[in-house]
Amino acid sequence: MNFSLSSKAIASAKADCLVIGLPEKGTWPDSTNQADEALGGLIKTLQKAGDLSGKNATTLTIPLTDQPWSRLLVVGTGKDTDRSPANYRKALIAMMTALKDGPSKSVVIALADTTVTGEEAASSEAARLSLIGRTLEDQLYTFSDFKSEKPAARKLNKAVVLASSAGKALKDAFNLGLATGRGMNLARDLGNTPPNICHPEWLAQQAKKLAKDYDCIKTEVLDEKQMEKMGMNTILAVGKGSTQPPRLIVMEYRGGKAKDKPHVLVGKGITFDTGGISLKPGEGMDEMKYDMGGSASVFGAMKVLAETQPKINVVAVIAAAENMPDGGASRPGDIVTTLSGMTVEILNTDAEGRLVLCDALTYVKKFDPAAVIDLATLTGACIIALGNHATGLLANNDDLADELLAAGERAGDRAWRLPLWDEYQSQLDSNFADMANIGGRPAGTITAACFLSRFAKDYRWAHLDIAGTAWHSGKAKGSSGRPVPLLVDYLMSHAGK
Ligand code: BES
Ligand code: MN
Ligand code: ZN
Repeated sequence: MNFSLSSKAIASAKADCLVIGLPEKGTWPDSTNQADEALGGLIKTLQKAGDLSGKNATTLTIPLTDQPWSRLLVVGTGKDTDRSPANYRKALIAMMTALKDGPSKSVVIALADTTVTGEEAASSEAARLSLIGRTLEDQLYTFSDFKSEKPAARKLNKAVVLASSAGKALKDAFNLGLATGRGMNLARDLGNTPPNICHPEWLAQQAKKLAKDYDCIKTEVLDEKQMEKMGMNTILAVGKGSTQPPRLIVMEYRGGKAKDKPHVLVGKGITFDTGGISLKPGEGMDEMKYDMGGSASVFGAMKVLAETQPKINVVAVIAAAENMPDGGASRPGDIVTTLSGMTVEILNTDAEGRLVLCDALTYVKKFDPAAVIDLATLTGACIIALGNHATGLLANNDDLADELLAAGERAGDRAWRLPLWDEYQSQLDSNFADMANIGGRPAGTITAACFLSRFAKDYRWAHLDIAGTAWHSGKAKGSSGRPVPLLVDYLMSHAGK
């Protein structure tokens, strides 16, 4: 697929399909006026006749003859005053739905001059181009590696996006959007890959592949023997019931100055979560292949960095293990000594995410981080609290929390903060060890974060619980690519100019 930006006038931008935006109420964008003029008032006529309402995310494809385009795709863009970035993205998704299985090989998209409401950073032409880029990539995603009958080849292979200029600033924004979409798609590929293939060592190989594909990424993998030597007993305890040994995967992107402290991303990489001896119920257990969604989003963000080369230092650490029950598995009641030296009584082997993360959180101290953000499909309770729309956010630093909330807001990939008050900590009391790994039913997302917070005292830290946002269930089952956009926005906002 070929994507490009152009500042051509509409009338000279030949393609199989021209896409324009039609507001339900408000000022027509220049491009819509120009297209209407080129087509002898066709759009106005159809609007008057009631064929085009302009309601947000509606589409109508109109065949044309003797024009530079074989067809016109009119995308409703709603009311000018209602056009939030989220609604604008809905219109872009509707466009892609109309285009992706259609007959057009080439398309010219004139939607970047449609205005969007809200703060400059999320509504400017650059922001709109970035969103168009991301939507082009992420809406064309398919995953058919394991189908013997491949879907018919897509006809669409060229998209030209019209902009007020094709200068560096707008090009960079468009390219960042495309890269973000590809980063999401990498995260989705990893998430969707079945757990008999995607195991800890396979994830480590993917990290090595990223380092091979991009010179700016360095990958190092610690195996179970190295982890044992270091005392990473909790991650080892989680992997003990599996024939696939755990891995600690470290990827570094150093695009900033040597003295710039790195932003550290820590991903939960449970490649399958049966619950272990505290076995999960069978229904829907296949979805626990997505329990490496946190690490998948870290991979996605690293790929975006490698493609766009911002001036920032980022270290990614993935704690990968498979949580299985067998004769070697950890038992409820086992006590292990974490890398930090603190002891944990494993009261429920299904609370394994915090166990692999705690050693990783101790390990990352050595990078002297500017901030540490961990990402994890950590608690079912987070889905009960926030459903599938918001990622749960907990942090030991208000500024960092605010930055992440703002990044999610700008990127249309929102998070919502939950409290991390001391009052919750006592739910983790253990009679036999320094702490238990579960805190009972009340506030399950918070007590999970309380557990992590004990290992994250030495730096600014935030935890993103993506249990509700990393994948879709039901008919559209599949990895979502979230929260790659949030991460990318956060990291880019910290990149040097
Ligand atoms: N990976 C799960 C969390 C999860 C559950 C994510 C359902 C998405 C959907 C995690 O390892 C887990 O099992 N958590 C337990 C914790 C409990 C034992 C304290 C949970 O949420 O039930
Ligand atoms: Mn679990
Ligand atoms: Zn889990």
